[in-house]
Amino acid sequence: MNILVVGSGGREHALAWKCAQSPMAEKVYVAPGNPGIAAEKKCVNVDLNPHDFDLLAEFAKTNNVGLTIVGPEAPLVEGIRDFFDAKGLSCFAPSRAASQLEGSKSFTKDFLVRHGIPTAAYKTFRKVDDAVAYVQSQGVPIVIKANGLAAGKGVVVAQSQKEANDAIRGMLIEDRFGIAGNEIVIEEFMAGEEASFIVLTDGRNIVPFATSQDHKARDEGDTGPNTGGLGAYSPAAVITEERYQRVLETIIEPTVQGMAADGHPYIGFLYAGLMITPDDEIKVVEFNCRFGDPEAQPIMMRMQDDLVDICLKALEGKLEGVELSFDGRVAVGVVMASGGYPADYETGFEIKGLAEKGLGTKIFHAGTSEENGKIVTSGGRVLCVVGLGSTASVAQQQTYDRIANIEWKGAYFRRDIGHRAIARENV
Ligand code: AMP
Ligand code: GLY
Repeated sequence: MNILVVGSGGREHALAWKCAQSPMAEKVYVAPGNPGIAAEKKCVNVDLNPHDFDLLAEFAKTNNVGLTIVGPEAPLVEGIRDFFDAKGLSCFAPSRAASQLEGSKSFTKDFLVRHGIPTAAYKTFRKVDDAVAYVQSQGVPIVIKANGLAAGKGVVVAQSQKEANDAIRGMLIEDRFGIAGNEIVIEEFMAGEEASFIVLTDGRNIVPFATSQDHKARDEGDTGPNTGGLGAYSPAAVITEERYQRVLETIIEPTVQGMAADGHPYIGFLYAGLMITPDDEIKVVEFNCRFGDPEAQPIMMRMQDDLVDICLKALEGKLEGVELSFDGRVAVGVVMASGGYPADYETGFEIKGLAEKGLGTKIFHAGTSEENGKIVTSGGRVLCVVGLGSTASVAQQQTYDRIANIEWKGAYFRRDIGHRAIARENV
């Protein structure tokens, strides 16, 4: 059968590359894909918009697509699964109702509290005065979140009352996030270390992927503005065996059971963003209704099973007893971004050094395009270079050695991806 992957970033490159390794996959179409994907065996870009469900479904029907996998959240929240279901097409993705776990922060907070799943205390607001008074009563630091999807820009960790008030006004009055900010969630600030816990579920059975950790801040030492994620590694050393079991029992299982009990069975990739607090509580920061980006890149590098096979099994409700195996090595993925990202940046610069070989490394494309036979930058996050190594420091070294040969005007990357895992190696 043929596979269709929806999206065009580094995550989709990793998912498509992994699907292409399946003996079941003849061709892997990616809509719209990127030049790195087009260079993979079996992979073909198709110029379709991820929001145009009619054309995507038509394409799937006429091209013998037996499985569609959706990368980004927007088409999920808009209901691509429901649309494909109505046309009798196999789409491994949560329904529109289930995707609210990412699409609506207030839905998720209410859900977590109702099902006794640990998360930061919160309140929702529509009126500026009420929100400002609440922040005054709670003190700072405090976290202000636009309710809907805001492409990773709807969260402000406010260190002062002024910063909080600006965020509240920006979201509720100035409509800085469009409809996403009609309602805001104000949340208790949680200190601690974050980790990403991604599973695959058929609505009942849960199959965890290897753990990972993202680096959301732009600058070294986890400082600077929040980004979509500038690097990730797997496994996340902070998730010990005991914590792994605790995450499953106190967070993932009650979430999957709760969604089913509430009438929105969750089928798809489920990403729990976790905070491990200084007193060793584990709480939900957020859910995403999709694979993480850049977490997918290091996780897919380590995954040894057939991704197509397990997605099809999940759609049939047959995940019982399935366990995945992962390469025992550590994978470190470093995102190379356009200078200026996450604020304004220029694109169109030729990328040099992509063809060099690097032992145990792979380059996933994100914001690239092809012009006159050359690969040029076309987005904020441009590449994710992943290296495998026996330890986090070895993997990190491989990755940075590979990056040393890649250049374009203004390329930016953090030089400390994996620092928490490396610090743990040295104790
Ligand atoms: P989100 O988009 O909800 O993942 O938030 C983006 C980032 O903001 C998270 O990865 C955290 O680093 C931070 N964040 C969100 N909520 C909280 C919270 N309640 N306490 C501390 N940090 C938070
Ligand atoms: N890496 C964070 C995300 O995918 O949302």
